[in-house]
Amino acid sequence: MALLLKKALREAAKNKSFSSHHFQSLSLSASFSAVSSSSSSSEGDQLAVLPRFDYVPKPYNGPLADEVFRKRKTFLGPSLFHYYQKPLNIVEGKMQYLFDENGKRYLDAFAGIVTVSCGHCHPDVLNAIMEQSKLLQHATTIYLHHAIADFAEALASKMPGNLKVVYFVNSGSEANELAMLMARLYSGNLGMISLRNAYHGGSSSTIGLTALKTWKYPIPEGEIHHVVNPDPYRGVFGSDAKLYAKDVQDHIDYGSSGHVAGFIAETIQGVGGAVELTPGYLKLVYDIVRKAGGVCIADEVQTGFGRTGSHYWGFETQGVIPDIVTMAKGIGNGLPLGAVVTTPEIASVLTQRILFNTFGGNPVCSAGGLAVLRVIDKEKRQAHCNDVGSHLLERLRALQEKYEIIGDVRGRGLMVGVELVTDRKEKTPAKEETGVLFEKLRELGVLLGKGGLHGNVFRIKPPMCFTKDDADFLVDALDYAISKL
Ligand SMILES: Cc1ncc(COP(=O)(O)O)c(C=O)c1O
Repeated sequence: MALLLKKALREAAKNKSFSSHHFQSLSLSASFSAVSSSSSSSEGDQLAVLPRFDYVPKPYNGPLADEVFRKRKTFLGPSLFHYYQKPLNIVEGKMQYLFDENGKRYLDAFAGIVTVSCGHCHPDVLNAIMEQSKLLQHATTIYLHHAIADFAEALASKMPGNLKVVYFVNSGSEANELAMLMARLYSGNLGMISLRNAYHGGSSSTIGLTALKTWKYPIPEGEIHHVVNPDPYRGVFGSDAKLYAKDVQDHIDYGSSGHVAGFIAETIQGVGGAVELTPGYLKLVYDIVRKAGGVCIADEVQTGFGRTGSHYWGFETQGVIPDIVTMAKGIGNGLPLGAVVTTPEIASVLTQRILFNTFGGNPVCSAGGLAVLRVIDKEKRQAHCNDVGSHLLERLRALQEKYEIIGDVRGRGLMVGVELVTDRKEKTPAKEETGVLFEKLRELGVLLGKGGLHGNVFRIKPPMCFTKDDADFLVDALDYAISKL
């Protein structure tokens, strides 16, 4: 271990960006950063340290974790939950890295729950927000302002088919509420169909679409059909898209009047544990739903904006064009922003009454959102996600061969899931082990997400500037942590 420590210090010294404070904190915590490099080396224990990063965080003199936690517990709602036994006080972020109160740097592989798309405090996005804030923060759509119109035009240009009209809102739940409202008004029907294991929000009407008991409060939901999830790993019909689609038809035939308002799905379920829908499923189901008078909604809150690598939108991976697309999270790189994009015909159903949203598309969020779209194009983030994501998946699959506990490695681009099981045949969720690894990875400097009903899936969905070196570090750290189980 002394050797490892020395090597860590040498690496740190090489990294000119480290302040002496950093150097100190690294020397104190070098044993945490030391991981065996596993598949990348056959020479046994070697050191893997966080990839170099030329940035020094500002000195932090604010309240420390214990104080923040105490205040939060006193003054904020008791439903708030936090990651890690000892909650982490994050005080600064830069691109794909986060810094805690001691200046310790972490690889952020969860991006504020799949929200920081371009990178923490990306300079172009910051600049757009600041410049607009200096001129006008808010006026609402009762007056004209170019920012909302420019942003809507740019967003519409990213959509296929006749998806050309945008409504701006403030969150993913709100986007899905609005989509459901339009589906009901447009179709004249009430029933909605969503997938088991889906997450579409926690507001009092999207909670009905969500189909994970951990997120549902017992309230009236209206007519919602939760159909069998086309999950290739755990699903009852394996990867047989036709059988899953038949379940949708059965719900319509036996559980409804024969007509529905709409169908909503994520193409890779996020909260549900990075579950990618069986290929060919959406095509079959969109036909069935449209025949029953419903509209098809794609929830792109997590999968949009190039994250899947192969396509800009998740639904494109299934070769379909939805009638309504909802988005949030990555659209704003951390700004409270959501959008619903649909056809002019469907959008017009909301002219029957007044629909108003005080903050939806306000100048600051619109300027920031437009900057996000530009950064994704300028920095070729979609291709980057494809490239880095393929490398990450390849390395994770090699790790799966090494460790029985890794039951499944799945996903696309930088939307990846690693499901842990105690028994590969039975697929028994390795709940406790996932918890232990999760804590260990935090010590090693890697922040992941957890998902799935049993919390046994690691969710790897970093800011899209995440590099191959970051991916190697993450996999090496995971390798080391599993080897110590
Ligand atoms: C796929 C999906 N849809 C909708 C939502 C709800 O978004 P919000 O938390 O912004 O309301 C989420 C949030 O995690 C989500 O992952």
